Amino acid sequence: MRIKAVLLFGLAMVILTACGGRKEDQKMASAPEFVFTYAENQAEDYPTTQGARRFADLVEEKTGGRIKILVKADGDLGDEKTVIEQIQFGGVDFARVSLTPLAEFVPRLNVLQMPYLYTGREHMWKVLDGEIGDDFLNSFDGSGFVALSWYDAGARNFYSSTKPITKLEDMKGMKIRVQESELMVGMIEALGASAVPMAYDKVYSALQTGLIDGAENNWPSYESTAHYEVAGYYTIDEHNRVPELQLISRVTWEKLTKEDQDIIRECARESSLYERELWEEREQSSEKKVRDAGCQVVELSPEEKARFQEAVTSMYGEYCAEYMDMIDAIAAAGK
Ligand code: GCU
Repeated sequence: MRIKAVLLFGLAMVILTACGGRKEDQKMASAPEFVFTYAENQAEDYPTTQGARRFADLVEEKTGGRIKILVKADGDLGDEKTVIEQIQFGGVDFARVSLTPLAEFVPRLNVLQMPYLYTGREHMWKVLDGEIGDDFLNSFDGSGFVALSWYDAGARNFYSSTKPITKLEDMKGMKIRVQESELMVGMIEALGASAVPMAYDKVYSALQTGLIDGAENNWPSYESTAHYEVAGYYTIDEHNRVPELQLISRVTWEKLTKEDQDIIRECARESSLYERELWEEREQSSEKKVRDAGCQVVELSPEEKARFQEAVTSMYGEYCAEYMDMIDAIAAAGK
């Protein structure tokens, strides 16, 4: 009896060890060849973050698990400027960034975010999905970035904690936060206000403490960051549309085979279509949430909007003199 028990125990141990070994082998076989980081400064439920997650899933699926992308939301990998610096050296592999801080590193991008450049969403997408957008995507040679695809970020509007902005004169003397960008500082000054450049995650407390009187952003950002709780006057002036880009570090890109590069591009484009759908829904739900919370929303009259537009016209000569043919081509696409 005892001998039988000992034999059975021995057999069980052999089987367990064998199974354990097989599990280990399987783990080895499916271990990814690459694990990459992806920086996103928006919250987990935000359209761009959801787009990034879709992108990461698609890449994992299409490479049979060889490439894994870890999406870090909420600015966990640093503010946008820091992330852009890191990307250049491969410290971060992927990111979704706003064109505004990126244009400080690749000035030609300013062309795509000039104030009152597009007549609306359709116009912007016609440009980005067309030859001009493709040319820009392919124009990053010599930089530390490779651009993968465009994401939507709607139109930006002004908001304030102190008073509703209903006319150009209201801007006078206001301290308005802008992204860390010379172009945006120029825009605020052209409108008669003072610009305060600062990182996105600092804006809430700056509004709360009165360091600034206002800021500007799209509906989803205004809502998602809860800026509407501390700056309840929102003016729909749509002064610009700032497209966003999915980027990969050139250092990382060069580690990949052509086949993997193609997969990454394809998945980035696919995720962009998904993000655009989510964006449209979120714009509406954010607007509703903000209005339901009792914020005062002002819609600029067409005459007043024309005055805002007139005030920034000289910026085209200042920032885009070398690219006027491109500006003309963009304008023509909107007609
Ligand atoms: C938008 C954009 C962010 C950016 C922010 C800002 O929310 O999606 O990437 O950081 O604007 O105003 O800084």
